Order: sequence, then C-alpha cells, then structure tokens
Amino acid sequence: MLREILGIAEGILQDLHNDHSEVDVLLEEIKDSGDPAARRRLFSVMSGKLLPHLQAEQEVLYQRLQRGKSAESRRFGREGTSEHEAAEQQVQKMFKLGDLMSDRWEAELKVLTDLVEHHVTEEESTGFSCARDEFDKEQLEAMREEFQTRKAQLRAQVG
Ligand SMILES: [Fe+2]
Ligand SMILES: [Fe+2]
Repeated sequence: MLREILGIAEGILQDLHNDHSEVDVLLEEIKDSGDPAARRRLFSVMSGKLLPHLQAEQEVLYQRLQRGKSAESRRFGREGTSEHEAAEQQVQKMFKLGDLMSDRWEAELKVLTDLVEHHVTEEESTGFSCARDEFDKEQLEAMREEFQTRKAQLRAQVG
C-alpha cells in the first residue's frame, strides 16, 4: 500500500509505468506537431513503443492474470485484453488514414489518447494491485526480464 502511495513499483510494474509515461509524452507531441512529416515520424515512434508494449505485457502479465487466483485478477486480465485489442486496432486504422493534419485524423488521435489514458489508469491501479496480490517480488522481477526480452524481439521483427 505504501509503495502505491509513494508511486514506487517493483519489477515489471516499474517498466510498464516507464513505458506508459513515454507514450503519454509522445501522444502529446503528436497532438502539438505542426507539420505532417514531424507528425508522421512521431506517430511511428509512438507506435513502435506502444504496439510491442501491448503485445509483450499481454503475453507476460495479462495471460498470467487471466489464470490468476482471484476473480478480480481474471476479470481484469480479460477486460484489459479487449482494451489492448481496441488500442491496436485504432493505431492500425490511423496508419491507413491519409491526411495526418486533417480534423478526421486529429479526432482519431483523440480516440486513441482516450483509450490509452483510460486503460493505463486501470492498469496502474487495479492491474498493478492484482499483480501484487498474485505474484511476489521475485516473480515480478523475473517478469521484468521476460517483458524486456519479448519487447526487444517484437521490435526486431518490425524493424
Ligand atoms: Fe501497459
Ligand atoms: Fe495494458
């Protein structure tokens, strides 16, 4: 509880939080970008972080929560999984839309930002507290390694 109040997270939870902060900053920069080239570049950078993050945390954390001891963990694992799918689909949709400076694209960016913000808030509250109940410190540490290795593999596949 104290760790939660102080905002200190252990193992994989700290790494998840760091990624969330990076994505948050990038989404803000995309919104503020004034030309299509800069916006396209930032959107690629953001997606290159967000998509491997979603896939890796899905495999490393959410699949375990879905098989968790408590009903709350299992429910969170399922709901989070659909939110990951929604965020992924939204990114793919935005890659296909033409004009990045159009009102339409900016509206879709708002949809994505809201999806991500809502999901991250849930993940860092309910998700983190379920993970702390289900796993001990060593398991969270081992999951950190697994998460980073998996993300690196996924990035290599894309790049
Ligand atoms: Fe996450
Ligand atoms: Fe997530």
